[in-house]
Amino acid sequence: MKIIRSTALAIGLIFMYNFNAQTTQALSKEEQLYRPNYHFTPQKGWMNDPNGLFYLNGTYHLFFQHTPFQSVPDFSKMHWGHAISKDLIKWEELVPAIAYDEKGAIFSGSAVVDKDNTSGFGDGKNVPVVAIFTYHDMKKEKAGEIDAQSQAIAYSLDNGKTWTKYSNNPVLKNPGIKDFRDPKVFWDSKRKQWVLGLAAQDRQHFYASKNLKDWKFLSEFGKDVGGHGGVWECPDLFPIKVEGTNEEKWVLIVNINPGGPNGGSAAQYFVGDFDGKTFRMDDVFTKQLEKEKVVWLDWGRDNYASVSFDNVPDNKRVIVGWMSNWDYSPDVPTEKWRSSSTIPREVTLRKSKEGYTLASIPVSQLKNYEGKIIKKEISLVSDKKLISKGEIDLTKVVVDIDFKKMTAGVYTFVLKNDLGEKVSFGIDNINKELFIDRTKSGKTDFKDNFADRISKAPLAKKYKNSTFKILLDKTSLEIFFENGEKVMTEIFFPNESFSELLISTDTKGSILNMSAHQLNIK
Ligand code: FRU
Repeated sequence: MKIIRSTALAIGLIFMYNFNAQTTQALSKEEQLYRPNYHFTPQKGWMNDPNGLFYLNGTYHLFFQHTPFQSVPDFSKMHWGHAISKDLIKWEELVPAIAYDEKGAIFSGSAVVDKDNTSGFGDGKNVPVVAIFTYHDMKKEKAGEIDAQSQAIAYSLDNGKTWTKYSNNPVLKNPGIKDFRDPKVFWDSKRKQWVLGLAAQDRQHFYASKNLKDWKFLSEFGKDVGGHGGVWECPDLFPIKVEGTNEEKWVLIVNINPGGPNGGSAAQYFVGDFDGKTFRMDDVFTKQLEKEKVVWLDWGRDNYASVSFDNVPDNKRVIVGWMSNWDYSPDVPTEKWRSSSTIPREVTLRKSKEGYTLASIPVSQLKNYEGKIIKKEISLVSDKKLISKGEIDLTKVVVDIDFKKMTAGVYTFVLKNDLGEKVSFGIDNINKELFIDRTKSGKTDFKDNFADRISKAPLAKKYKNSTFKILLDKTSLEIFFENGEKVMTEIFFPNESFSELLISTDTKGSILNMSAHQLNIK
């Protein structure tokens, strides 16, 4: 059987990559205004989901859904783009790693470090890394055939640089389910087996294998639980300790599109146990779900396809998402590239009376980039300027806010520019919710559903004290409320960079402590 070699090098030449073009030419208006300062974005072309996330020998690998030659998606020619990083913050883009071929486009999937060479792909010297992805056969889809999606593998013997597709692909044929994709594989050390979870329409299916090539069906999860407003995509199952205890639980992240809490794409999760065959929800979580209906990972509109890295040191669980939404992603006002990733986030599982929370906070490596600090303590009596123009660059900053003595009122942060464009966000301590309002954020009319609503995240109570960690880049806002217990991520496209941050409130007597850290990136 013919082995199909990775065409990464050829692709690189065909599309004439010039990753250094930026440093030698003056930046275009679009680059200046919209190329993020510290969020990963491809130099050229379209990007969606993160794929094949793994760590090996000091390097993190981020692959991603990519059409390198155009900045709108072409689902018949999807590649895995590739970027590497030593610290999850600074990324270097490499040539695309896995290219589409006659069996189909390369849709989302995962990668594992096969330390024991269970796959037999190892050569005795190098640890094989095995990528598991979905082949999407556009010809079949166009012909109306149901089995257009199947799972396939490729391996790398040079730390993920080049990839060889397995000669016997696909390794998991389509069982007659139209949406059957996005395999996420992990090593189940207790049962000494590989487990593959994938999205099957609006369900989760599990398979097991000893060698990553032969897969047998284990179980199904998802009927009548959680969100079903759209198709399930990009799932991820992993074990995690309950914070402060030795109790281990399993978290199943399931992305869903549409059906998100504020419209379009979003990620939900379930907490339970996995016995090597079946995922069952925990009783406490089952009760929580009866009340909440769906438990969301992020309440903003722009964190999709969030999945975790394989093989991260110190047992950390790090996730990264695609910072966009299928509602409008191909229409956002950038031409050269489209989309960026969220900041990589470390997740932890907290347990309280109300149930479980998968909290996320920016990875600790971000702190290494913190430079100049501005600190202010403000007694809130009226609207106040937190950061004036020129004080700090608000397109690369982490702002930590600590509220004390909060009362029942609305606390609104306003990020604005000289054109009067703004993004407002904050906490409504009357209606018990967080919110982001990007309706007046600049370019919004590229798609009617981009700025037609104010995004909201319900809170369980009114707060007397609370904290916000706010990450700002040129086109994004990431809010980590109460140490990551509630998260909201949204993007925006002002006609001039935002340069001032205000707080507006009708409450009296609250104390706000702010420390804004400039990020020294680039
Ligand atoms: C999620 C998704 C996946 C699919 C990929 C195609 O955003 O639709 O289900 O594999 O994107 O690019």
